[in-house]
Amino acid sequence: MQENKEVTFAPWLNMEMIEEFKDHAKDYARLMSYYTAAMMEIETKFKVLNIELNRGYDRNPIENIKTRLKSPRSIVEKMQRIGKPATVESIEKELSDVAGVRVICSFVDDIYKLADMLALQDDICVLRVKDYIKNPKPSGYRSLHMIVEVPIFLSKEKRYMRVEVQLRTIAMDFWASLEHKLRYKKDIPQDQAEQIAEQLQSCAQTVSETDQKMLSIRRQIEGHYPKAH
Ligand code: GTP
Ligand code: MG
Repeated sequence: MQENKEVTFAPWLNMEMIEEFKDHAKDYARLMSYYTAAMMEIETKFKVLNIELNRGYDRNPIENIKTRLKSPRSIVEKMQRIGKPATVESIEKELSDVAGVRVICSFVDDIYKLADMLALQDDICVLRVKDYIKNPKPSGYRSLHMIVEVPIFLSKEKRYMRVEVQLRTIAMDFWASLEHKLRYKKDIPQDQAEQIAEQLQSCAQTVSETDQKMLSIRRQIEGHYPKAH
């Protein structure tokens, strides 16, 4: 990641934001600081679970955690797409993915373990779960998505903020990252697009089978054989 003091300490403050939200830049920056705080809360919760599970299992269920704040441009584009005004109030009301936390796990069962553990925490409210592992997207995309609400504690108030949590294995992340990069190559001729989509779908299937095999190998090593089904 690029070293940049401004970005490190105040990711919600940048030129793009000032351009998009000229008249409401202060309110927008405040909202983004709340989302940043909410992401930090969620990230810490996962780090704590990782430490605890590391003691219990002698391995790390979490490989990596990434946080991202939706860019001002993406926010404006999404508000236009859903036909809502790009005001600060409306952004907070309409969007659930301004704050994003991506948890990259070692094995598929770690995803469900971590998701259940987060959901059970008494300050967390799970608003929505989309299981794209059991029901992959037509593209082949697999991940477990949760929209959660987490309280942040400010000097004079407690606020509940929504965060989109995406849990996936290293293998699922590998596929999603490359597929995302390829999808943004806009110059793919129409007649090839379908064939490319099929190939990507097939790669996603291979990746998923490999994930299952790796889980099975881990269970063999641990001496817990998976139930026959
Ligand atoms: P958005 O308006 O895109 O946020 O859609 P949504 O609100 O219906 O959410 P969805 O559950 O589809 O998840 C959206 C997020 O999941 C995206 O921002 C991506 O990070 C990821 N995602 C969903 N589908 C795909 C896909 O086909 N490929 C990749 N690489 N990522 C995907
Ligand atoms: Mg999104």
